[in-house]
Amino acid sequence: MKPAILAGRLSPLLHALQCPRCGGAFALTEQSLICENGHCYDLSRRGYVNLAPDHRQSGDKYDETLFESRSRVFAGGFYAPVRDALCAMLADRSGPFMLLDAGCGEGYYARTVQARFPGAQVIGLDLNREAVALAARSAERGGWFVADLKRLPVKNGAADAVLSVFSPADYAEFRRVLAPDGELIKVVPGPDYLREVREAVAEHLRGGAYDNASVLAHLRAHAQVLSETPVRFVAPLTPADSRDFLRMTPLTFSVPPEALERIALAQITIDVRVLRCRMR
Ligand SMILES: C[S@@+](CC[C@H](N)C(=O)[O-])C[C@H]1O[C@@H](n2cnc3c(N)ncnc32)[C@H](O)[C@@H]1O
Ligand SMILES: [Zn+2]
Repeated sequence: MKPAILAGRLSPLLHALQCPRCGGAFALTEQSLICENGHCYDLSRRGYVNLAPDHRQSGDKYDETLFESRSRVFAGGFYAPVRDALCAMLADRSGPFMLLDAGCGEGYYARTVQARFPGAQVIGLDLNREAVALAARSAERGGWFVADLKRLPVKNGAADAVLSVFSPADYAEFRRVLAPDGELIKVVPGPDYLREVREAVAEHLRGGAYDNASVLAHLRAHAQVLSETPVRFVAPLTPADSRDFLRMTPLTFSVPPEALERIALAQITIDVRVLRCRMR
């Protein structure tokens, strides 16, 4: 992407952004975002800005192959009910609003919000460069950043909604960037989420069945849950879908590739809770 096009995408978002190193306001040139204290971040030809240039990407198992598998799974519609539940929680917003997707991966949810809500301005960020590059490539607008959700490049109170979908959360940061009437939409796996993958690789996994109790308790300590939508269904898989499901999840990171090759899943369980929250 030409830097001038990226600069054009970023300029309507500039008022909401701040330097993650010093909190300073940004100015935009055709080549970079530069803060009032001189911290400079280049606009990438891949359509994003890397605001965490010191973050080491190597050794990260969230690689391009994983995100490509995930993209095919999204394109196959397996997460459409999760996406729809999440969008329904934004449906009463008629005017313009600023949405931050913290840990956006390849941007499936943020992109949908952008497409469905003409008034939405979207900032998507993730520490993984490959994911953010995919997000930026697939989006028609919005700001896409390699950035740490523990140090959000967003001004106090500038976000009307924060999405946190299967990603780590930093509730103090979410509270800081949310407007007083802003909301957090958090998606948390349920106990049966991807149970077929878990069962197929059980011998390689530490610990027993997945329990989301501690994640939910942590959320409730920081936020009031206004409403919640459970999404649970079982979908049949083709052999190609099975390969993608096995390659898109951290659950299989410790499984040797040859062992993964031998597994064929006939179906998959999606079991999640979509929670609409107000920070305490
Ligand atoms: C399971 S993926 C979910 C991605 C996306 N929300 C989705 O559901 O498709 C978790 C994501 O969190 C990102 N992540 C983990 N720690 C992060 C951090 N401190 N700051 C930003 N992103 C982070 C990972 O790079 C990964 O893309
Ligand atoms: Zn700065």
